Amino acid sequence: MNKPRKLIIAGNWKMNKTVAEALALASSLKLDLANVKEVDIVVCPPFTALESVSKATLDSNIKLGAQNLSEHHFGAFTGEICAGMLKEFSVRYVILGHSERRQYQKESDALIAKKAATAHAASLKPIVCVGETLAEREANQMEQVLETQVRGSLAGLTKEQMVETVVAYEPVWAIGTGKTASTEQAQAAHAFIRGVLGQLFDEATARKVRIQYGGSVKPANANELMSQPDVDGALVGGAALESRSFADIVKNSV
Ligand code: PGA
Repeated sequence: MNKPRKLIIAGNWKMNKTVAEALALASSLKLDLANVKEVDIVVCPPFTALESVSKATLDSNIKLGAQNLSEHHFGAFTGEICAGMLKEFSVRYVILGHSERRQYQKESDALIAKKAATAHAASLKPIVCVGETLAEREANQMEQVLETQVRGSLAGLTKEQMVETVVAYEPVWAIGTGKTASTEQAQAAHAFIRGVLGQLFDEATARKVRIQYGGSVKPANANELMSQPDVDGALVGGAALESRSFADIVKNSV
């Protein structure tokens, strides 16, 4: 597939996998995907498995991501993990503002923007998630919600930082539900997001930003989704927990 931007496919393992299970999955992906060069492949294990997955994927084409970080650099923030701690394990990406964190931890756009700035300060590339709920889509508020989230969560980034930021469009109604956005719905949302990025930064910057689709991505729908002009990769949850399905998503995307 000839894409203007290099595809980036990331597995969000969420709160799954013991260290032993994570190691088994990472080792198997390393073998399965060893020949894939056209895609940036990222795995995002829970914090507790970062060290072992980091060692297991050393010298491979699999890059490491985390699922969250603190907006603070150090100090009295019980239960939090800062960017410097992630860097110890060669983490390169960090998922920010996932809808589960927006919903359960009440993360706001302003907080996500602070975290994105903190990530960049440590040379970690944020994967900033945005997406509307079913009620918002049905009320025709999708564009308004996406615009608010994009502007709010990316506020204050420089153009150079924006180019090193990945945006993940994840319609909340498609996450873990088996309901994938149609290719037309995904393309329309991605084009809209790129338009907002163009206004917020400039057209040239917007053209360089990779926008992933997330929400029930599977081996069977990956190719069609990736063939859309503004879809530059995928953020995969459920199907990333098993080596075969994640590897097939990556392979079917190129
Ligand atoms: P899903 O999750 O692939 O299980 O729908 C996607 C995500 O939450 O990133």
